[in-house]
Formats: sequence, C-alpha cells, structure tokens
Amino acid sequence: MTIEFTEENIYELEPSDLVLSDRVAGRMYTDPEIFEQEMAKIFEKTWVWVAHDSELPKAGSFKTTYVGRQPVIVSRDRKGAVHTMLNRCRHRGATVCETRTGQVNGFTCPYHAWSYGLDGALRGLPYPDGYEGIMDKKVMGLKKLRTESYNGMIFATFDHDAEPLEDFLGDVKQWIDLFMAQGGGYPIKVIGTFRFTFRGNWKIQLENTTDGYHFPIVHRSWMATVDAETAEMMSFMTDPASVTHALGNGHSVMQMVPEHTDLAADDGSEPLQPRFDGLVADLRAKGVPEEDVRKLVHSMHGTGFNLNLFPNVSMSISFFRTLRPVSVNETVIEHIAIGPDGPPEIVDRVNQERMRAHENFQGPFGFGTPDDAEGWDRVQRGSVGGPELPIMVNRGFAREAQNDAGWPTSHSTDETGMRSAYHQWKDMMADD
Ligand code: FES
Ligand SMILES: [Fe+2]
Repeated sequence: MTIEFTEENIYELEPSDLVLSDRVAGRMYTDPEIFEQEMAKIFEKTWVWVAHDSELPKAGSFKTTYVGRQPVIVSRDRKGAVHTMLNRCRHRGATVCETRTGQVNGFTCPYHAWSYGLDGALRGLPYPDGYEGIMDKKVMGLKKLRTESYNGMIFATFDHDAEPLEDFLGDVKQWIDLFMAQGGGYPIKVIGTFRFTFRGNWKIQLENTTDGYHFPIVHRSWMATVDAETAEMMSFMTDPASVTHALGNGHSVMQMVPEHTDLAADDGSEPLQPRFDGLVADLRAKGVPEEDVRKLVHSMHGTGFNLNLFPNVSMSISFFRTLRPVSVNETVIEHIAIGPDGPPEIVDRVNQERMRAHENFQGPFGFGTPDDAEGWDRVQRGSVGGPELPIMVNRGFAREAQNDAGWPTSHSTDETGMRSAYHQWKDMMADD
C-alpha cells in the first residue's frame, strides 16, 4: 500500500510512515516529538563520530563533545586506550569538564570535587566519612559509552549491544582508507575547526553533503573565486563518470572528481596546479625530494569525493563535517580542516596553504558555507508551510542501478545518497 500524505493524515502518521521510497514528509524537519524520538532511537542507539585520533595525541589528552544532546568527554588514558564517558558528575549531575580540548591527569568536578580518572573511574571525594558504609565507589564512575575506531576515526555509542563498528561501517571502510591517503605520504591530523549554528533541522545538513545538484547553483560565487583548473575540476554536472553510491546502513559516497578517488595511484601525468607554484618553490627550497613535493602538492585538493556517514559525520574532499542536533530547528556544524602530520619544517608550510583553501570555502568569511547555510535556513522556514507537501528525493530514481560492487549507483547530482540515509532513518525509527 502506498501512503499519500494529505492534510488530514499528515499529523497522524507514524514517523516511519513519513519516509517513502522517493519522498519524505516535511514534518520530519519541524515536529519536536519526532526530534525526541530521533535522539532516543538514532543518536543513543548507533555509532556516532566523536573525534579523530590526532585530537588525542598524548596520554591525558581529551576532547569534550556530544553524542546526540548528551555531553561527553573523549579521553586517552596512560596505556593509550580511548574512553568516551558522559560529562556528568555522578554526585549531583554537574559537567566535570567545560574545556574543549587539553591534557589532564583526570577530571575533578568543580562543585564538590569528586574526582575521576582518565577512564572515568571515581578516584576520590572530599570528607569521605559521610559515605561510610553507604556507597561503593567502584560503581560510581562516569557513565561509559562503547568506543571503537577505524583508521583514526573514533566513534562512540550508548548501546553496549550495538554491532561492532567495523560491521556498521561495512563497505565504507575502503573509502575511509582512500580518504586518509591525502596526507601525501604522512598520516592525517586535524589542523583547525570552524563551528557555527544554523537554524534548521539536522537532516537538512545530512542531505546536503550528498547533494551534488546544489553545487554549481549555490556555489557560483565560490566558483568565481577559484582558478580555472579548480572550477573545471568541480564541473561534474554533465560528467557521466561522476556518480553517487549508496553503501548500506544509510552511508553513501558522492564521487565528484572520480580521477582523484585514489591519490596514491597518481601516475604523475596530471600537471600540478599553478596556484600552488609558491608552495612547490618553498618545498623545493627546503630540500624536500621532488617525489614528495609531488605527493604533498597533488594531495592539496583532497580526495575527489564526499563520504557521508549516517548519522553525523562526513569526510568531504579535504575536511570533516560533523553535525550536532540541538533541537528540532537548531543544529551545530563543525568544519574540521585536516592536513599531513609530519616534520614541522615540511608540513607546516603545506598545512598553512591547506588552511587558506579551507577558509576560502568553509570559513566564516568563506565563499561556500554562508551560501549553504542560507539554503538550509530557508528549507526550515519554507517547509513549515504545506505540511502535506512532500520533500522530494526522487532525482535519478529511474536511472539508479546496482554497480559491480552491488551498490545502488546513480549520477552524483541524483538523490541516491539521501534515499539511502532516509531508508536507514525509517528502519531505525520503526525498530521497537
Ligand atoms: S556535583 Fe560533582 S561533586 Fe557534587
Ligand atoms: Fe554546499
């Protein structure tokens, strides 16, 4: 039976009935009750990205962030193991850490000084005689999440029975490996984060990183700021080799520049872009071998794809983008710049150049992000109207086909990635 959205039924339908194969209901962006259910059934049930390995470089390194709406601390203990725990004191609930990143020996709650180890265990509390015989310290550690990582990407989940992270990622793993090859022979590290809030539902953002269709329209002003080679590289609208694959579990990959899928397979035939002439000259002057100069500079433009993971992170060309749902119509986005992690005399110069390119698109004064954010705000404002009218995700529905790997595939401007994410959303919201 096909459900039609009507003025009569739209507020009566169950959340899982709001996703059809080629369209979804706008109510998914605006209904606070659906948002509450998403937090419980999605963000507190599945693997949520929390950090990159490089953000926790040493024993005692930590980062505070969120899993859904719940504040967490991600920390590295003295043995190198990574822990994710609720940033909530077991005494009367205060956050135990309000700093974004740092290096500590443990966490002491500022309210009554209960102190916790890097693994969240309760180590001590002042004037302990008041608890004599009534409390077992061993069960009063910070609430732990399960933490697993793949190729530097660290995820956590509240669900201790969730499938292993590697199973959840499945075919995504090979794409993460390709993405991480952009260090030009070095591992990847985070080099800066730009954070902002938009006034819209988190799923508008989830859709956007797999939305090739908006690129030449919304990013016309960015295209006007870049050199001819970069503009040409990003002109994938009519390139039949530029495709999007659905990878399962709501994940997808959009290959905008297919020839830059595997940076390690570079055969040296593509000339380095003249915009990097200064960087090339500087690296040569530092005595960097020619082969390494080529690798570092050829990787400057990142990989040719956006890898979108359900529900909260994407690896997009040359940066990570994370989303954090705050309320039904408020979402925090982080654009996390990355670059090679190697000898400072070599990588600092490369990363300086990577930051400038990042700022040109993603920064607060960038030519890309402000235009994206305007579009997302407008979707939220407009979709309040005509609640029975669907949000269409049918582009390319008729030309989608399985490729040799068995992945549903269509052109990169099609809405294959969104259909796949909403399919996962439907499954998780129905599951009870
Ligand atoms: S609330 Fe943390 S020690 Fe009292
Ligand atoms: Fe965009």
